[in-house]
Amino acid sequence: MVPLKRRKLVSSAATGRTGTDSNDKAPTKFPLVVLFLLERKMGASRRAFLSQLGRQKGFQVEESFSESITHVVSENNSGDEVQSWIDSQVKGQRRTSAHLLDVSWYTESMRAGLPVQILDRHKLQQVDAAEVAVFSVPSFACQRRTTLENHNAVLTDALSLLAENAELSDEEGRGVAFRRAAAVLKALPEPVTDTTQLRGLPCLGAHSLRVIKEILENGESSEVESTKQSERFKALKVLTGIFGVGVKTADRWIRDGILDLQQLQDSQQTLNRAQQAGLEHYEDLNQPVSRPEADSIASIVEEAVRSVLPGAQVSLIGGFRRGKQTGHDVDFLITHPEEGREVGLMPRVVAWLESQGFLLYQKTSRNSYLESKDGPARPSSNMDRFERCLSIFKLSEEQQHTENTAEPSQVKDEELDQNKSWRAVRVDLVVSPISQFAFALLGWTGSKLFERELRRWAGHEKSMSLSSHALYDNKQGKYLRATSEEEIFAHLGLEFIPPSERNA
Ligand code: CTP
Ligand code: MN
Ligand code: MN
Repeated sequence: MVPLKRRKLVSSAATGRTGTDSNDKAPTKFPLVVLFLLERKMGASRRAFLSQLGRQKGFQVEESFSESITHVVSENNSGDEVQSWIDSQVKGQRRTSAHLLDVSWYTESMRAGLPVQILDRHKLQQVDAAEVAVFSVPSFACQRRTTLENHNAVLTDALSLLAENAELSDEEGRGVAFRRAAAVLKALPEPVTDTTQLRGLPCLGAHSLRVIKEILENGESSEVESTKQSERFKALKVLTGIFGVGVKTADRWIRDGILDLQQLQDSQQTLNRAQQAGLEHYEDLNQPVSRPEADSIASIVEEAVRSVLPGAQVSLIGGFRRGKQTGHDVDFLITHPEEGREVGLMPRVVAWLESQGFLLYQKTSRNSYLESKDGPARPSSNMDRFERCLSIFKLSEEQQHTENTAEPSQVKDEELDQNKSWRAVRVDLVVSPISQFAFALLGWTGSKLFERELRRWAGHEKSMSLSSHALYDNKQGKYLRATSEEEIFAHLGLEFIPPSERNA
């Protein structure tokens, strides 16, 4: 059964523009004026009376709304009310360019016997045409497809830098706000050239909008530029760039007057094992890992896993699974198709890698997740509780499939000893039981914002708790099992987004 309004719309289209069943029709005197009277609040009988009056005076008054309408007349409605009624009629189509008018314009025109000039007092408080959303973007990043193709890199780089600065200043909330704003711009199909294009977009707070506006008008944001120049920001970046050094440690060092690596080395600060390794391999670890290097590491990890537990499976996760060409590390998820066989796997993999001289550093943490203990009551605490290994690999040149080997003639003599034949690469290994594999795969593929948004969606919209181990439905009071990422998206009522489109 076609809804009433739809049927009217269809019949109007079918009968064309003359669209009147009235016998009192005079020939149309004003071919450029096609009227529609809104019944809402006016009432059916008054509408019929006014319509008939208009036709007698030679106006074209349509029974139903269509694209051909040039003037919409209503009584006691706001512009927004009329607009949303029209939107409900013409779903998905272009917004009407018709005048939205008060009935006073109509009655005055009847009296004058011709369409009177439209004055401000006749116009309904109408939303400016420029305020119509140019882009339509759903508000959760996990509802959107975000590829690596970013049409607004200048804007998103600026917002990401402000996010980073907020995170380095321990202002997580502000950091997330900037990350969300940047993610919305990353999802746009074309470059933003004017702030009016941003109307109606979600997650763009006043601060982000100010930054965007300044960049669109002046080419750069004064706040971003001054942040880049700030001694504190520069020091925080250098110090947290050391593997093993977090914001708190960096902040403490800065208060002790340590602003760079030299000052750290000269100071009496005691470094833990991770930080020592981080400092030692600073240059290497701050150089992006390439795709061929990630592939070489993958071969090594696969060989290690195959050697210690045949049948175990290795999956590339993190940024490289999302199709990135570079990363700050390489991430792997290891499992075995038989539940329980993965127990004790990590120490054996690590021992194998160590025996082959592949590890410069490693720290393994044991799996501490137990559904019965950690379950849904503590959703935020059951992140990252897998058996995990944070490591630094020693990747020798013969293992690198890189093409750009340095020209020997260009290497100066004094550089020869430093021209080492290997580089340090950060590698994360995670082991999950097969029963949690889909959740681990989803949780470790990222991006970080995509993950955060998935959990926010689960909690806010579905009353569920999602972690890298499980999905719990708070309403049904039970765990929802899944053996694939697709099933998890389905449980969450979300369209499946493949890894390459999770680059929020
Ligand atoms: N992750 C996590 N817990 C951590 C660290 C990371 O769950 N303590 C997850 C993140 O949510 C992300 C994935 O592991 O989904 C990969 O993290 P990371 O390697 O930091 O980021 P990438 O997206 O891989 O980016 P990059 O290329 O810079 O490594
Ligand atoms: Mn990574
Ligand atoms: Mn990682």
